Amino acid sequence: MDNSNTPIIEAKNVWKEYGDHVVLERLNLKVMQGDFISILGTSGCGKSTFLNMLLGTQAPSRGELLLDGKPLSSEPGPERGIVFQKYSVFPHMTALQNVMVADEFEMSKVLGKVWGSSKGELKDRAMAQLERLGLTQAANKYPAEMSGGMQQRLAIAQALMKKPRILLLDEPFGALDPGIRKDMHVLINDIWQEQNLTIFMITHDLHEGFKLGSRLWVFDKPRFDPQEPDRYGSQVTFDIPLNASGQEDIIASLQAKEQKEVA
Ligand SMILES: Nc1ncnc2c1ncn2[C@@H]1O[C@H](COP(=O)(O)OP(=O)(O)OP(=O)(O)O)[C@@H](O)[C@H]1O
Ligand SMILES: [Mg+2]
Repeated sequence: MDNSNTPIIEAKNVWKEYGDHVVLERLNLKVMQGDFISILGTSGCGKSTFLNMLLGTQAPSRGELLLDGKPLSSEPGPERGIVFQKYSVFPHMTALQNVMVADEFEMSKVLGKVWGSSKGELKDRAMAQLERLGLTQAANKYPAEMSGGMQQRLAIAQALMKKPRILLLDEPFGALDPGIRKDMHVLINDIWQEQNLTIFMITHDLHEGFKLGSRLWVFDKPRFDPQEPDRYGSQVTFDIPLNASGQEDIIASLQAKEQKEVA
C-alpha cells in the first residue's frame, strides 16, 4: 500500500477545553513527513497545549488527532521527542548519562539491569550523538557546569537518541543569547535536513519563525468576545509556506498587530 500521501499528523475538528474555557477550536490541519512548522501566537493562545496533545500528554476534548492516519495514542511514544525552553535535562546526571537515559528502557541498562555489550553500544551511540551536537568535550560535565546553549544542545541530543520521527520544540532557543541562537538555527536546520524529521517549533520571535522551517502557523482567535474572553478558542489563522513571496507584507502586518497588543 502506498502511504506516501497519508499525513504524518492530521487534526480533524480538534477542540481543547478546560471547563468553560475554550482554548483551541475546530483545528483542521494536515502535516506531511518532513514539514518543519514554526508556530507563533500570543501568550496563552494554546500553542503549548497543542504541542502537548501531539506528545500525548493531553487529549483533545473533541475531534481526532491522527498519527500516520491512526488515532494518536495517549502515551508519549518514542516517535515523538520533545525539547522545552528550559530544564529538560536531569541536573544530577552528566551530559553522557543524560543522553544515555533517553528512555526508560535505556535507563534500565544504565542502572545495571543489562550489562555487557549492549551498554557499550548504548554508550557509543550516546557519544556519537554528543559529538553530532558538538558536546564531546562536555560528556562528563553536569548541566550546571554547561552554558545555556550547551544545555539546550544536550536536550536536543537527548530527544534525538530515541530516533524520533517528530521533534516537538517549545520555545527551545528563547533563553539564549542572539549569537548562540544563530548557531542553534544552523544546527537544527542541518539536523532537520539530514534526518528527514517532522518538526513543530513554537517561538516568540517573528524573525526566527520566518527564518526556520518550511511552514509558519499563527495561532489566533478569529472570534473574540470581550465580555467573555474564554468563550472562543484559537485556530491556525495563517498557514504560510515559507520561501514564498510576499512575506515582508505578512511580517509587517504581524508586527503591527504585536505592537497593538503590547500597547
Ligand atoms: N491543565 C490546564 N488546566 C487549565 N487550564 C490550562 C491548562 N493548561 C493550559 N491551560 C490554559 O490554556 C491556555 C493556553 O495555555 P498554553 O500553555 O497552551 O498557552 P501558550 O500559547 O503556550 O502560551 P505561552 O506563549 O505563554 O507559553 C491558558 O489560558 C492556560 O491557562
Ligand atoms: Mg507555551
